[in-house]
Amino acid sequence: MIRIGVIGYGYWGPNIVRNLHSLDSTRVEMVCDKSPAALARVRKSYPGITTVLDPAEILTSPQIDAVAVITPVWTHYQLAKAALENGKHIFVEKPFTSSTAQAEELIELADRKNLKIMVDHTFLFTGAVRKIQELIKSGVLGDLYYYDSVRVNLGLFQHDVSVLWDLAPHDLSIMDFLIGQQAEAIVATGGSHLNGHEDIAFITLYFPENVIAHINVNWLSPVKVRTTLIGGQKKMLVWNDVEADEKIKVYDKGVEITSAEGVRELLVHYRSGDMWSPQIEQVEALRLELGYFADCITNSKTPFNDGQAGLRVVKMLEAAERSIKKRGEQVRL
Ligand SMILES: NC(=O)c1ccc[n+]([C@@H]2O[C@H](COP(=O)([O-])OP(=O)(O)OC[C@H]3O[C@@H](n4cnc5c(N)ncnc54)[C@H](O)[C@@H]3O)[C@@H](O)[C@H]2O)c1
Repeated sequence: MIRIGVIGYGYWGPNIVRNLHSLDSTRVEMVCDKSPAALARVRKSYPGITTVLDPAEILTSPQIDAVAVITPVWTHYQLAKAALENGKHIFVEKPFTSSTAQAEELIELADRKNLKIMVDHTFLFTGAVRKIQELIKSGVLGDLYYYDSVRVNLGLFQHDVSVLWDLAPHDLSIMDFLIGQQAEAIVATGGSHLNGHEDIAFITLYFPENVIAHINVNWLSPVKVRTTLIGGQKKMLVWNDVEADEKIKVYDKGVEITSAEGVRELLVHYRSGDMWSPQIEQVEALRLELGYFADCITNSKTPFNDGQAGLRVVKMLEAAERSIKKRGEQVRL
């Protein structure tokens, strides 16, 4: 049984506490929030959980094996570092840290102390992403051409981070997981219209082997769109995450170009076969992820969404931010 202290009970924290509370392998010992109103909500839902205003009570408690940091990004580094220094494993929200230097320091500290870091890249545990990974790994899509994602809606405006740091970590972590290679360069553009932080951003990533990715994140969209297209040489798929059923549709479509000897023009052949929608496992991603966190601690396994995975995402965010500031100048990774 892994005894966990959760810091941060705002919008996302209640989901973490609910899932940890329902798992057999974890127990929520304490919840901390600097807001007394948030703690009153914890006590109402979970009378057995101790609530504290000061994170130090969790960070130094001998009753706690691991700390979940579910606070705004600019607080992650300090809280995570204190937890590691006190010998606790950490589960940290996305994006892992505000800078690559902070992420590298936490990774080094955890390694030295033989502690686990897991970064909450929740989407990697959804049935949809796991199914897409299966389709890619088993060769159904063939060699990848591109990954193209749209994640737009109205708000929720964050006062401390841009849409890039708020929404793009989802796509960057999914893309990192599915493509399985590191991007070589980034070109990004964006605009801020209301509070000084970008509320719209377009990010292009160049990968080895001619794979290209594009991510569109926007807080000023009148409609909510969560659509990802993944094109492969053999098949192409569309993942529409707002669809209740048939989230993924795989199309047997493609293009083959040949040039026959003696024929000057290219011969373009369009393939248009069946479409099918694979079955997707219906399990709450966060529950699976938090169960995996406990399993990694108990069985001394390195999670695939570890500090290194968090660092790769932060590196891409920093590079995209640099490119946006220079109005789309290419930044090499
Ligand atoms: N994985 C996901 O899908 C997902 C979804 C939403 C948010 N998040 C991430 O979760 C984190 C929190 O986001 P949120 O939307 O819940 O924010 P929020 O502002 O709604 O909640 C943060 C809570 O942390 C508390 N807090 C802040 N600093 C603290 C400190 N030093 N000590 C104790 N309490 C402190 C605040 O009082 C607040 O209740 C962010 O990193 C965000 O990116 C992840």
